Amino acid sequence: MSLITDAQKAGGRVGLKSDKIVINGGKPLRGRIEIRGAKNLATKAMVAALLGDTPSILRNVPDISDVNVVTGMLNAYGVSVTEPEPGTLVLDPSNVLKAHFAEIDALAGSSRIPILFCGPLLHRLGEALIPDLGGCRIGDRPIDFHMDALRAFGAVVDKGYEGIRLTAPNGLKGAEIELPYPSVGATEQVLLTAVRAEGVTELKNAAIEPEIMDLIAILQKMGAIINVEPNRVIFIEGVDKLHGYEHRALFDRNEAASWASAALATEGDIFVGGAKQQELMTFLNIFRKVGGAFDIHEDGIRFYHPGGPLKPVVVETDVHPGFMTDWQQPLIVALTKADGVSIVHETVYENRFGFTDALIAMGADIVVHKNGLAGHTRRVARREFEQAAVITGPTPLHGADVVVPDLRGGFSHLIAALTAEGKSTISNVGIISRGYEHFIDKLALLGADFVYEG
Ligand code: EPU
Repeated sequence: MSLITDAQKAGGRVGLKSDKIVINGGKPLRGRIEIRGAKNLATKAMVAALLGDTPSILRNVPDISDVNVVTGMLNAYGVSVTEPEPGTLVLDPSNVLKAHFAEIDALAGSSRIPILFCGPLLHRLGEALIPDLGGCRIGDRPIDFHMDALRAFGAVVDKGYEGIRLTAPNGLKGAEIELPYPSVGATEQVLLTAVRAEGVTELKNAAIEPEIMDLIAILQKMGAIINVEPNRVIFIEGVDKLHGYEHRALFDRNEAASWASAALATEGDIFVGGAKQQELMTFLNIFRKVGGAFDIHEDGIRFYHPGGPLKPVVVETDVHPGFMTDWQQPLIVALTKADGVSIVHETVYENRFGFTDALIAMGADIVVHKNGLAGHTRRVARREFEQAAVITGPTPLHGADVVVPDLRGGFSHLIAALTAEGKSTISNVGIISRGYEHFIDKLALLGADFVYEG
């Protein structure tokens, strides 16, 4: 059974018939929801299956549209993807074949994952065609680190008007690579290429996010030899052959942090089933400093507002183990309720505060400094293109008509509308289903007052 429908191939979304939701705010979210595997792991694990010569089984896969995009791409390359039970994918790469560029181009439009097909396709087919990439509009999001790394392995990169064509006339050889910044995607690119390249690869300044560690665990199950050393160094010894894996995807930390912020901002109480402490420690510290409470359980984490005023904080986003850039958007909604001035320094992406316009329209007092703010107590080194948001609270929010700009910004708009006095209409909510499984059902489960125009 193919998981992708014609509508989804044309850019459709999972389970969403309309792009609009009308929310009546002012009601705390309360109840229990379950989260599944991380978007930013499951999609990469699916690409890794291309490297094996036997089928892989991936469990705990979320029902989100980014998974469908990757399914469509794998199908186009001859990999069969079936779902014998909800959330379990069987990926069979025994008949990998070249795909038509137009098909890949149409499928890839809404995602950034296709770039990660480069290494596996070069190994399997000797050629990779990569269309222009989608993903959230949160900065330039260049691919120079990816291309430089692939060239270091011996790939030849030709840029055409429709996209990028890569070949490896002399095969792919292990390389010494130092990333200019610990990029998540470029680290994954190197891993997915080096595991079957000839010889040893040394990667310096690698990203070490938990999702990357889970990908390394998957590759090890497939037969790869990868050593993670201190100081962001990863050694990979290439092997001739990899086989399929069986793996349960790590939980989605970004989704967990989003619902936690929703609990705090709405003065609610949400049990996030499937969330774990270890990968959320940095978030939990900030959550506690703002005034949120949490109880860690075997099967999840309860996040709640314990009463009393919320406190302002200064946060700098950073690569792991820092405070993730994907956590700031929902948290900022809670910070509009804190008693005083908070500052959020965004150091990972150069344009990730666009969503605050809608919060300002709803009554928030937020000033975005486009070139960041120098501060003497900074922990994260200042970056050339960073920005800062200064949030002064508490400001009650009121309903507004809002158009969702990107995935995480969109979720923060949902939370803002849930806390606001009166009615908000949020359009373009389909984007949210790229990364939040069944969020409409979850809102209903948590007692939100809304009408989904589906
Ligand atoms: N960068 C370059 N050149 C490159 C690659 C990256 O300059 O070739 C820069 C980026 O522009 C950015 C920084 O390096 O300023 C970090 O980007 P990174 O490569 O780490 O991000 P990514 O791999 O494109 C993933 C997640 C993002 C998440 C970031 C940071 C996926 C599909 N996306 O992006 O998730 O914010 O890592 O952790 O895994 C999301 O889920 O909403 C999302 C955007």
